[in-house]
Amino acid sequence: MGKTTLYLINVSIAALVAAVSFVSGQRVVRICRDSDIEILSIQGVQIENYPKSRVELHLAERMHHNKPLFFLQFDFKTRARNGVLFYGTTKGKPSEILALFLVDGELRYKMRCPTLEAEVFVSSKKKVPLNDGRWHTVFYSLKFGEHSHKADITIDGHSGSPKQFGVSCSPLSSIIMGGATRDDLINIDELRQIPGHFEGCIRSVNISVPLNIPPKYHAVSICG
Ligand SMILES: *[C@@H]1O[C@H](CO)[C@@H](O)[C@H](O)[C@H]1NC(C)=O
Repeated sequence: MGKTTLYLINVSIAALVAAVSFVSGQRVVRICRDSDIEILSIQGVQIENYPKSRVELHLAERMHHNKPLFFLQFDFKTRARNGVLFYGTTKGKPSEILALFLVDGELRYKMRCPTLEAEVFVSSKKKVPLNDGRWHTVFYSLKFGEHSHKADITIDGHSGSPKQFGVSCSPLSSIIMGGATRDDLINIDELRQIPGHFEGCIRSVNISVPLNIPPKYHAVSICG
């Protein structure tokens, strides 16, 4: 797909978002599910092999510790060996990041929190590369305990993390899928270390926290 087409899609989404904000005139904008492109639906979004291609999800409320669970669920399919599936950041905490990405078709989870820095392999059930062009389902969850949070990653119904591990990062305020923003690429070493850019589809995103604005689409197309 050429850059001209990508640009046009950006414009139509920008117009749509503006229309929604204007009509509602409220602080909390309802998520429009009738857009041409919708990562929250089963139709999904095609992330292009282009640095700017990504979807930004801005969370309306921070994950509060009195909520027992935070989760992010989605399906992806790709033939690319490498790339970011998602990363999460917290406003005002540039040194904290949680990220799930592909390296040679295998899942890796990386986090940098105040008391813990880690990178782990997440094994899939059949132990085959995940860049097989088929849909795979990721379920990422954080259980909040009194003293620490426990993260768990399930891939195609199989718990892939060796054990649940503690997370001491602050509650996430944004989740970026498929790529990285220019600022984050400049500021976050972990993102620069990920080889290649994700190219493929992401669909059926389901997050336990509401969004404060509709998803922001950058240089993506409809999943074909
Ligand atoms: C999102 O996940 C929750 C919890 O599993 C479920 O109850 C809900 O139906 C899901 N929403 C969608 C749109 O699939």
